[in-house]
Amino acid sequence: MNPIFCAIDMPNLGKAQALAGQLDGHVHGLKLGLEFFMAHGADGYRAIASKTKMPIFLDVKLHDIPNTVAGALNALLPLQPAFITIHTSGGAAMMLAATDVAAKAGANRPKLLGVTVLTSMDAGDLAAVGQQADSKQQVLKLAGLAKQNGLDGVICSPEEVALLRKELGPDFILMVPGIRPSWAAAGDQKRVMTPKEAMTAGATYLVIGRPITGAENPVDAARRVTAELAA
Ligand code: C5P
Repeated sequence: MNPIFCAIDMPNLGKAQALAGQLDGHVHGLKLGLEFFMAHGADGYRAIASKTKMPIFLDVKLHDIPNTVAGALNALLPLQPAFITIHTSGGAAMMLAATDVAAKAGANRPKLLGVTVLTSMDAGDLAAVGQQADSKQQVLKLAGLAKQNGLDGVICSPEEVALLRKELGPDFILMVPGIRPSWAAAGDQKRVMTPKEAMTAGATYLVIGRPITGAENPVDAARRVTAELAA
């Protein structure tokens, strides 16, 4: 199976739509993030969905009291995204409220992925907000809580994949950004792995943005990544 979700979070809706159409069948799915959804809303989402049969990962990182997260999730169900993100630091009750709402969608249920520790936070930042300073332990704690409360998986950095795979078992979904094919520039991503390294470490899906979206020929770039994975 092709494990790639291409992040097409560009501000220009027309360009994002064109890319969605072009990439159809060349990656596993598309990721739309908070910036896209804030700018273009549900109509923007539908505009992208109309261009592709691929699953869409709606990365809106919900974080609020259980009742509000349940309501927000309920409002997103008609869009039928394959994946939606929520912050695990919202706690067990929030995650349970979310899994209850998602379950109501039956066969079209979106899979829920937890956000653990934002990779922009270092040990000092974590300590400053009163969290465990060892970020790996904090990630493991929150990912375990996500699993206990019915989430289908988590987003994690390449560095955390092996540990989470070992601790959380073979079926827990690990969706991994920070991926750079051997031929691509790292850009602002600091701790990167190649697609093959991340899959070998235990990733379920890979989130890849600019190496594909910024390429002169995005379809060719997607093909090169899949070839690299198959090699
Ligand atoms: O262009 P690039 O491959 O870096 O895009 C990766 C995508 O994954 C972007 O949408 C980015 O916001 C997201 N992401 C990330 N690192 C994280 C969490 C999310 O790059 N730690």
